[in-house]
Amino acid sequence: MIVQFLVRLMDAQDGWVKPFGTWAHGLLNRLFSWTPAVRDLLVGRWLGHPVHAVLTDAPIGILFLVIVLDVVGQPVAAEITLVVGILSALAAALAGMADYADTDGKPRDRATLHGTLMLSATGLYVVSLVLRLASDTASAPAIGLSVVAFLVLSAGAYVGGDVVYVFGNMVNHHAFRGAGTKWIALEPAETTDDGAIPEGRPIKAKLGINTLVLVREGERILALHDTCAHAGGSLSGGQLAEGVIECPLHFSRFRMADGHVVRGPSVYDQPAYEVRAREGGGWEARRR
Ligand code: FES
Repeated sequence: MIVQFLVRLMDAQDGWVKPFGTWAHGLLNRLFSWTPAVRDLLVGRWLGHPVHAVLTDAPIGILFLVIVLDVVGQPVAAEITLVVGILSALAAALAGMADYADTDGKPRDRATLHGTLMLSATGLYVVSLVLRLASDTASAPAIGLSVVAFLVLSAGAYVGGDVVYVFGNMVNHHAFRGAGTKWIALEPAETTDDGAIPEGRPIKAKLGINTLVLVREGERILALHDTCAHAGGSLSGGQLAEGVIECPLHFSRFRMADGHVVRGPSVYDQPAYEVRAREGGGWEARRR
């Protein structure tokens, strides 16, 4: 019941969320596509895990402490905590913007609402800090503002949870894929007249219920899962250069030899498969 009410409330914001999201996404997408190293640092490719998820816990905990310190009458400690909380919120916002730059559709709408709430809360905290610094003791408006800001922050955190847990943004698209050690017959979508896999370009192939992308290098056949770990793009539609395949959707790059992600926005490696010739002809494969 309550969740239906909240979903309706969030959807009711689409009138301003969609145009604002189109503008904000366009801006951030351009910015981060010019600075892929910065984007990779902020999304967490180096960590193999989204950095935003790690950073968001800090401001929420720290800024809750501001309320506690106000209640027990510790204005100086509250001010210091507020400064640390605002700085940690800005760090989390930076990482969040890098994630946001490669969202689409409904996840982007929710992420727009989430980001707007979080930045609004941070703005209210800044005003509260200014009011506190302007007087010797924390005034009632300053304390009241930080309480209101925490409510906005909590609403933003709820919407952020929706972005990840309901819409699966930045969730590994292979989270539930089993490893499996069984060799299974591989069925390439294309073969040459003499029955070989075409060389030097990505070829789609079926492996049981999975779809793979193959690249043949002489006698060696390299194989990755075709579904991009970032947001489900089809790697077989991407460009191949120097043993690295680029997803056509948001341009993550994966090493064909082992699936290692060499450029974001994916922070996850791609499942890799070993391929061998099958007795009696054809090929078979299994996950590494
Ligand atoms: S789906 Fe986003 S980079 Fe592949």
